[in-house]
Amino acid sequence: MKLLVTGGAGFIGSNFVRHVARERPDWEIVVYDLLTYAGDARNIEGLEQVRLDQADICDADRLDAAVRLSDAVVHFAAESHNDNSLDSPWPFVQTNLIGTYQVLEAVRRHGVRLHHISTDEVYGDLELDDPAKFTPQTPYNPSSPYSSTKAGSDLLVRAWVRSFEVQATISNCSNNYGPYQHVEKFIPRQITEVLDGRRPKLYGAGQNVRDWIHAEDHSSGVLTILERGQLGETYLIGAEGEQSNKDVVELLLTLMGRDPGDYDHVNDRPGHDLRYAIDASRLRDELGWRPLYQDFERGLAATVEWYRQNESWWRAQKAQTEAKYEVLGR
Ligand code: NAD
Ligand code: TYD
Repeated sequence: MKLLVTGGAGFIGSNFVRHVARERPDWEIVVYDLLTYAGDARNIEGLEQVRLDQADICDADRLDAAVRLSDAVVHFAAESHNDNSLDSPWPFVQTNLIGTYQVLEAVRRHGVRLHHISTDEVYGDLELDDPAKFTPQTPYNPSSPYSSTKAGSDLLVRAWVRSFEVQATISNCSNNYGPYQHVEKFIPRQITEVLDGRRPKLYGAGQNVRDWIHAEDHSSGVLTILERGQLGETYLIGAEGEQSNKDVVELLLTLMGRDPGDYDHVNDRPGHDLRYAIDASRLRDELGWRPLYQDFERGLAATVEWYRQNESWWRAQKAQTEAKYEVLGR
């Protein structure tokens, strides 16, 4: 198997690459990644069967040359942070929509199998007391430039399946945590704030709920779908990990030996989605997938330890990230 992984030097893409390198040691993997501010070649260092092709998914010729040599493409590459999309939407339109269009055209030309990575944020948000969760039938209702461009990319994939018989599957996963996540995101931002002796920053009242899944479980879900998923289908990936942001911050502070009330409320994010929750029963029932990292407190403690041990990995991102948040008042 020759596997092309777009965005494979980012947080989840590199977790998937390390997962596949372990689980399928005879596969050859090419990571196709532009190495934007969010990508880091160190994330995939030392893996024998992995090669990095540093290029843009919007570069049709470069992408075509890479896809032509592949048996399958797993498409992670995206602009991925909501706060950035609210500040500057254009890169999201460019990479998430135009980039996905180029990926679709390349796999169509060469008859290559595609798995498209998406997010539960395409479904909008739920009320806190709503018993319903997102399912593959939930209507799309995205809120931000990030989630709307991801929704658009999913719709492009669906159209290319229907109109051009592209052999594709889609997965929509909930919020991931684990090592190698950029410090702009919620959990690593708070961990590194505490490590730097500062206070975590909670948007608004902190009542918002996210459905946390360890990146390792996301990766095992994607590999399951790539190998055994039904072409044309959408699978939701989630591990029943609903937590309010306030509870996550308090747990983090406790795990790090600080007073659980030692955090600040800062300006809320405009249009801030209230709650996400995933019903992953199709992936569990039809493909037999099971998450392995369901003890959130243990997973969080291991993630704190990783950031403690790997300051050299995150230190260069930190000042720039905080300078950006300072301008936004968050
Ligand atoms: P990330 O920002 O950490 O990584 C994105 C990667 O894509 C980086 O390595 C970056 O260099 C690369 N990239 C960006 N633009 C590119 C371009 N034009 N050409 C080539 N490479 C480019 O993101 P992540 O959190 O790892 O998310 C990966 C995917 O998973 C995204 O599609 C995202 O929408 C999806 N997703 C993320 C989450 C989450 O919680 N982070 C949850 C569900 C789905
Ligand atoms: P984030 O990691 O940006 O993921 P997403 O927007 O895709 O859910 O944020 C997760 C939640 O944490 C979200 O409700 C916003 C909130 N948040 C904070 O409260 N403080 C922060 O400093 C950040 C970055 C996010």
